[in-house]
Amino acid sequence: MGMLPLFLTFFVAIFAVTSKGSEDSIAHQIHLLRPQSGSGGGRIPGLSCLSWRLGVETNNIIGWSTVPEACEGYIGHYVLGSQYRKDSKVVTDEAIVYAKSLNLTKDGKDLWVFDIDETSLSNLPYYAHHGFGVEPYNATLFNKWVLTGKGLALPDSLGLYNKLLSLGIKIAFITGRPEDQRNVTATNLKNVGFHSWEKLILKGSSYKGTTAVVYKSAQRENLEESGYRIVGNIGDQWSDLLGTHVGKRTFKLPDPLYYIS
Ligand SMILES: *[C@@H]1O[C@H](CO)[C@@H](O)[C@H](O)[C@H]1NC(C)=O
Ligand SMILES: *[C@@H]1O[C@H](CO)[C@@H](O)[C@H](O)[C@H]1NC(C)=O
Ligand SMILES: *[C@@H]1O[C@H](CO)[C@@H](O)[C@H](O)[C@H]1NC(C)=O
Ligand SMILES: [Mg+2]
Repeated sequence: MGMLPLFLTFFVAIFAVTSKGSEDSIAHQIHLLRPQSGSGGGRIPGLSCLSWRLGVETNNIIGWSTVPEACEGYIGHYVLGSQYRKDSKVVTDEAIVYAKSLNLTKDGKDLWVFDIDETSLSNLPYYAHHGFGVEPYNATLFNKWVLTGKGLALPDSLGLYNKLLSLGIKIAFITGRPEDQRNVTATNLKNVGFHSWEKLILKGSSYKGTTAVVYKSAQRENLEESGYRIVGNIGDQWSDLLGTHVGKRTFKLPDPLYYIS
């Protein structure tokens, strides 16, 4: 007896004070994660759009045709703001770490698959004028945009592309763009810095009507049958990364603008 209980009481009191503080701050953070409602039970604006975007990126929300109308502003701010860039950079930084870790054979057969739209080239100038995915897809208007050849380079993807080339990895673009857009696509890629490639594969007429999963799987199978090893595969759609012959590792870039099966 004597000193010890006194000391313990003192210690417990100190602990209670500090843990009260950290509980408060954790409670505050958890509070922010509560779905749908704020302090007075009111809706937190934007929260459901963030959840929708997360659902889309994780492939839980599939088969959607347009961005929910209520999320136009949210998605617009996301893609034009810094978060889209940060989210993209996390992906490409990780891809670079992975690529550097590879034991490459250096026989010219190590290959990395890139999708094009919203992976290599950005169509944001088009989507900014068409409701950031809220307007239903209009093939006539979108193809007209593609034919301008004014797609922008996605800067972090271009960085990954250059890094892979410097490591001796070959690049294959596999895109759902149709064969008749080959020239404009090649020119657009070169103009924004994607200067060379091993393969540029566009969707031939024999694949018209097939899903991206089926078409892209078949193209990757062809590549492997010609002796290439697909060491990496990057795309903005899950249909770039699912199916067969997907590669040793896949990387999903953010894209809350549209869904392709
Ligand atoms: C790297 O690959 C070569 C050729 O396949 C193999 O001989 C070597 O053991 C590998 N090295 C490591 C560290 O895996
Ligand atoms: C696509 O846009 C064009 C030009 O505005 C319009 O004439 C056409 O009806 C639209 N197509 C669809 C399917 O909405
Ligand atoms: C594509 O460009 C090549 C030469 O660069 C030309 O011969 C060919 O006709 C063009 N094709 C189309 C569909 O424009
Ligand atoms: Mg794409």
